[in-house]
Amino acid sequence: MPKGTFNFPDNFLWGTATAAHQVEGGNSNNDFWAWEQEPGHIINDDKSGAACEWWAGRWREDFDRAQETHQNAHRLSVEWARIQPAPDMWDETALERYRQMLLGLKERGMTAMITLHHFTNPIWLAEMGGWENEEVVPLFAEYTRKVVEALGAHCRLWVTINEPNVYMSAAYLGGIFPPGKKDLKLEVQVLANMAKAHAAAYEVIHTLQPEAQVGAAIHWRGFTPGDRNPLMRISARQHHQLFNEAFSRTLETGKFDSPVLKQEIPEAKGTQDFIGLNYYTRDYLRFAPNQRAEGYTERFFKPDADLSERGFLANDPEGFKQAIRWANQFHKPIYITENGCEDSQDDFRRRYLIEHIHAMWRMVNFNIPIKGYFHWTLVDNFEWERGWSQRFGLWELDPQTQIRTKRKSADLYAEICRTDSLSSEMVEKYAPEVYTKIFP
Ligand code: BGC
Repeated sequence: MPKGTFNFPDNFLWGTATAAHQVEGGNSNNDFWAWEQEPGHIINDDKSGAACEWWAGRWREDFDRAQETHQNAHRLSVEWARIQPAPDMWDETALERYRQMLLGLKERGMTAMITLHHFTNPIWLAEMGGWENEEVVPLFAEYTRKVVEALGAHCRLWVTINEPNVYMSAAYLGGIFPPGKKDLKLEVQVLANMAKAHAAAYEVIHTLQPEAQVGAAIHWRGFTPGDRNPLMRISARQHHQLFNEAFSRTLETGKFDSPVLKQEIPEAKGTQDFIGLNYYTRDYLRFAPNQRAEGYTERFFKPDADLSERGFLANDPEGFKQAIRWANQFHKPIYITENGCEDSQDDFRRRYLIEHIHAMWRMVNFNIPIKGYFHWTLVDNFEWERGWSQRFGLWELDPQTQIRTKRKSADLYAEICRTDSLSSEMVEKYAPEVYTKIFP
């Protein structure tokens, strides 16, 4: 059998990513918490509840887990609703708690990356129309100023907004996130406002911290025509344009260009120091006469796809390469800010992880400047509208008892992080079923 080792560059960041609402617990002052309390919104009417009890202090033991498994970085988010519980109120104790977390990372030799907005909004902001209302732009800038002043000493890697494209489509097209609307015009307006808010935050961060590296995390998704209907080629292009392209291009050119709204946003031009790339899977598209709101399009995975436990995503590392090539068009350093899968059995995950790390290594070898990889996620967490039904953690969590159990993938990832490489021994040990794919 052929043998080998795929090495990554020195100083590569290896970590996991988390988001405040999904891990902290008791996050009762934001719009998603309120949404969870209404029956029918979340699978099984699950609630985030105590989540992983990070707010109560369990971040310490979970950061220990990350450190002990050789991760040298962590991406976490801070909760706007905690930091600014009311428009005229800042909570210094909440900021202090985040400072402790950042110090905790530092003590463990781990680099921090902070996300300022990860899907949730303070209730007071939601009540004034949230991201539909352009007044959010100066408010987000003010919140950013407060965070950077308080936490900037311990962080220089900033993600302004996580997946503005997923947020706009879940909250304003699919209606599965609050405010649960289905309105294409509003959806696009929200995305444009997010680009403006990003630009304002970029400016604030750089004024306070000239050496900062600032980006946004975009969820790149492949859209491929999956039947012979010529409409699907147009549909795939439009999906790509609005979902993948519109936001990031605005930050490059200052021009917001979507099928339903075109706008000059000159202040957004040149406001990304790196590309944050979240990649999970690719979709095929087929004609669906009943799905008017979705442009008569239905997404699906090929019948022979290697699907995750609940069929939520397909193991598609070729799509990861495509995503990275796309990100490289911006000629900026790239961080993989999320990549992972749901798998309570931790069987699929091992080959998914290996195949995606391998795909990323190939791209690094084309001299694409990938600087780090954050696996989603460290410990099973609250997965939004899917509640606790999907398990993305390297550690299994029983939310009732808060007991964590290490999955084999955590050991695999530890070996990757420790050696800064992926080797044939690891593949043989953790996912022999893909050995000949990776070492033909
Ligand atoms: C989001 C995460 C989420 C993950 C898996 C990403 O789109 O940024 O918050 O948990 O997908 O569902």
